[in-house]
Amino acid sequence: MEVVSLPPNAPVLMEATRAIGYSIETAVADIIDNSVTAHATEVHIMFFPIGNPYVAIMDNGSGMNEDEIKNAMRYGSKNPLDTRASGDLGRFGLGLKTASMSQCRRLTVISKKNDAIVGAQWDLDFIESTNDWSLKLLDSDDVADIPHIDQLKEKVTGTLVVWQALDRLSLGDANFDQTMGKYMDLVREHLSLVFHRYLAGEQGIKKIEIFMNNVKLEPIDPFLSSKSTQVMADESISIEGHKVMVRPYTLPHISQLSESDISMLGGKDGLRKLQGFYVYRNKRLLVWGTWFRLMRQGDLSKLARVRVDIPNSLDYLWTLDIKKSIAVPPEAVRRNLAGIIGKISESSKRTWVFRGKKETDESKIHIWNRVKARQGGIFYEINRDHPLVEAVSSNAANKQLVEKLLQQIERSLPLNQLYIDLTNDERIVNENEVSQSDLSNLLEQLLAGCRDVKEREMMLKRLASTEPFNQQPELLRDLI
Ligand SMILES: Nc1ncnc2c1ncn2[C@@H]1O[C@H](COP(=O)(O)OP(=O)(O)OP(=O)(O)O)[C@@H](O)[C@H]1O
Ligand SMILES: [Mg+2]
Repeated sequence: MEVVSLPPNAPVLMEATRAIGYSIETAVADIIDNSVTAHATEVHIMFFPIGNPYVAIMDNGSGMNEDEIKNAMRYGSKNPLDTRASGDLGRFGLGLKTASMSQCRRLTVISKKNDAIVGAQWDLDFIESTNDWSLKLLDSDDVADIPHIDQLKEKVTGTLVVWQALDRLSLGDANFDQTMGKYMDLVREHLSLVFHRYLAGEQGIKKIEIFMNNVKLEPIDPFLSSKSTQVMADESISIEGHKVMVRPYTLPHISQLSESDISMLGGKDGLRKLQGFYVYRNKRLLVWGTWFRLMRQGDLSKLARVRVDIPNSLDYLWTLDIKKSIAVPPEAVRRNLAGIIGKISESSKRTWVFRGKKETDESKIHIWNRVKARQGGIFYEINRDHPLVEAVSSNAANKQLVEKLLQQIERSLPLNQLYIDLTNDERIVNENEVSQSDLSNLLEQLLAGCRDVKEREMMLKRLASTEPFNQQPELLRDLI
C-alpha cells in the first residue's frame, strides 16, 4: 500500500467555505467570540462604507505573538475534540477564517503582545494566483496601511481584524452607503442580544463593552428580568457530571409592557414567535425561540421563555454547527426539559386566564356581562342594571328603541376580529382608561338625573364599584 498526502486545493476549499452560511451579523459575532475568549473588556467595530470600504473589529484582549498569529490564521487551528478552557467560546479552530472570508476576499489580522506588533493576511486573489495556502506575513510597512492600526498601537495588548474587498456585502447594491447602514442595524441588534449577559456584566463573567462606530451597544434582555416572574426555582440538570442550569421566566402580560419593553422582547410578532428555550453556551446566546419540538408554539405559552445554560464541556453531546447557530440538546437534556415545560406553560396560561377573571369579577358592576348559557357556551350581554344604561333607558322617549339598539350591539360583537387582534397582540386602544375630566362630566350628568340628596348618595355608593367610575375612587370620595 502506498500513502500519499493529499492536501486540499487551497483556492477551491477557501472559496467553498465561504458558503457555510454566515450572515453579516453571525460573522461579526464569531469574531467577537474570539475577543471574549481573549478576555477583552472593550471591542470596537468600525464600518467604513466609502472609498475602499472595510469592516474592522478591534479588541483589547490578550493579543498574539508571531507563532500564535500564524496558528490562528490556519484553517483548523485547534482540534474540535480538544478540551477548552471553561471561558472559551471557540470550538472548531475555524471561525476567524470562515466568518471573515464569508464576507470579504481579504482578511488581515494584526495583533499586539509584549510590545511587538505582528500581522498576517489571507488574500483570496493572491491565493488563486499561487494556487497554494500562501499566507502573507506583514512587515511594518504593510501594517502601516491597515486602517485603525494607530489605535491598536496605543493599546497594551489587543487584536485588530480587518475585512476588505467586501464582495459579499456590496453585491448588486447601488447605494452602498445606505446598505451599510442596514447591515449595521442587523449587527447591532444581533450582538446586543447574543452577548447581552456580557454587556450587562452579569455576576461571574467579565463585563465587555462593544462600540459600533463609537456608539456603545446596550444589552437586550430577552427575559425582561426586572419585570418578569421566575415561575420556579432554578433547576440544575446533571449530565455526565456537568451541570445544565434551567431558569424559566414568565413575561408580564402585554398590557403591562411599554413600547420599549415590547421592542426589547422582539416586537409584537416576536412575543409569540420568540417563546421557548434560550440556550446559552458559556453565557453566550446560541439558539432561541424554540421548544425543540417538545411543545407547540402556542398562544397560551407565549409568555414563557426559559433560560438554559450549558458549559462548553458538554459540546460533544450537543449538535453544534460551525456557525454555532444550530444547537440540538441531547436526549438526556430533552427528557428533563419536557418536565419543566409542563410546569411553566401552566403558569403562562394562568397569566392569561387571570385577565379573563378580572374582567368579569363579580363584585364589580360591568357594562358587559359574561354569561354562561344554559344550553352550553357563553355569551356577552350589556348589563341593563349598569347605572349609565339605566339612566339612558329611563330617560329615553322610546324605551323599546333603546332595548333594540342594545340587542343589536350584543349581536354584532366583532368576535372573530377581536380574537385575531388579541392573539396578534394588536394594541386595542378602547381598553385605555377614561380620563378624569370625561369621568367627572359623566358623573355630573348621572347625578343631575337624581331627584334628591338621598338618591344621589345611593348613586355615588353604587358607582364606587361600577365601571368605569371605580377607576377614580378619589373623585367619588370627594363628592360623598
Ligand atoms: N481576538 C483575538 N485575540 C486573541 N487570540 C485570538 C483572537 N482571535 C483569534 N485568536 C486565536 O486564534 C485562534 C483561532 O480562532 P478561530 O476563531 O479561527 O478558532 P476558535 O475560536 O479556536 O474556534 P471556532 O472555530 O469555534 O471559532 C483562537 O483559538 C485564538 O487562539
Ligand atoms: Mg473563534
